[in-house]
Order: sequence, then C-alpha cells, then structure tokens
Amino acid sequence: MLKKTKQIKKNETSPVIIKKILTKNQIKKIKKLYKDLPIEINNKRQRIIKKKWITSFYPNLQKIFIEKLKKKLGNFKLDNPKTKNGLSSFGLFQESYKPVGIHVDTGFNFKKVIFKQFLLPLSSQGETIVFKNKFYGCSTTFSIDPKELKAKGYNKRSSEHLKIFNGKDFDRKEHKKYLKHENVDNLKGLEIDMVYKWKIGEVLIWDRTQLHCSSSNLKNKKIGFTVLTCK
Ligand SMILES: [Fe+2]
Repeated sequence: MLKKTKQIKKNETSPVIIKKILTKNQIKKIKKLYKDLPIEINNKRQRIIKKKWITSFYPNLQKIFIEKLKKKLGNFKLDNPKTKNGLSSFGLFQESYKPVGIHVDTGFNFKKVIFKQFLLPLSSQGETIVFKNKFYGCSTTFSIDPKELKAKGYNKRSSEHLKIFNGKDFDRKEHKKYLKHENVDNLKGLEIDMVYKWKIGEVLIWDRTQLHCSSSNLKNKKIGFTVLTCK
C-alpha cells in the first residue's frame, strides 16, 4: 500500500481537460518522433505497441509541455519508468488495436507522493473511461478472468477491487455503450467519473489513483502519449 495517502489524497481532484495545449506543428513533431523511436514493447496478446520518449529527444518540446501543465497544476516531478536500456523517459507512447482493461498506474514505489497522469491523444479516434473509484496499492490490472489473472506483465493482476468497493451492479446501459470488452461483473462497485473522447491538441489529466480503461469503441487503432507524475 502507498504510505503517503494523506498527501496523495490532498492533491486529488476531478479529471481536467486542457484545450489547445500544443500547436499543430508541435503535435506533428511528436508524431514524427513517435515514428523514429525504437519499439519498447510489442505485446501481441494485448495488441499494443509501446515506445518511450527518451528525454534526449526534443528537450525544448518537453519543456513547453511541462511549463504549460505546471501553470495549471502547480509544481510536480516526472515519474516515468526508464526504458529497457536504462534511459530516462518523458513518457509512454501506446499504439493500441484492442481496448485496454481496467487498471491503475500507481507505480511500485510506495514512498512516493504520486500525483497526476496526462494523456495526449495523437489520433482523434479513441475514448478513455476514468472511474470515480481510487486504489492505493501498486500498478494493477483488475480482472476476474482466470487467464488474465495468470498473465505476466508490468502490472500486478488482481480482483481485489471487488472487495474494496460497494459491489453494486454496474449500469447496464453504460456497459453496453462504453465497456463491452469488460465482463460486467468485473465492473461491480465502479462508477464512471468521465468519458473522455479523444481530441488532438488537448490533454486529459487525472489522478494516478483513479481506475481507468479504454472504451470498447475502437474501430481500428489509437495512438496516445501518457506521462506519469509525482510531487
Ligand atoms: Fe493507464
């Protein structure tokens, strides 16, 4: 369990969208960078390709992005895992062909005061579902599927969310509309905070303790860039 929950909770807010955070030209540069970067992970089972923004690439663009976010959120530090080659990373590009299941990106260092995470859409297709429910353990994928629970990956696998929240049946209409890729019983006790429809040029900000996933409405693929922060 995270140790500094008092400080973490003090900084928690509702999800926020910032419009026009970067110019079209800056987004174009980031898309080019994405093409040029080496693949970090190609997970065929989850149908996702991951690349990390190595901090020595486009440092000025990182600075612009961070300064704009600090104006809105106050001071914070980056908290992204290093690349597999041990290089520091500004964040993670994810090109996904299949909706990602419910999880948290809380990390594995329980001494940290984890803060916000950012999503910068690089394709206009895509939806992210952020739940009101929060989790104060390590990075975890929440599932009741025995295959998923046995799978190995960066995140821990668990169904402990079903014991933490109230266990109330999830809204059937919302399940059908956004979350068909999830077993409705895996959503018991969860409540949607925000359905974010991706828009290029915006950034979505939410608490790292908040459960979230992709929506099931994914026609082909989506590419997004995410950044993790701490205080
Ligand atoms: Fe995530």
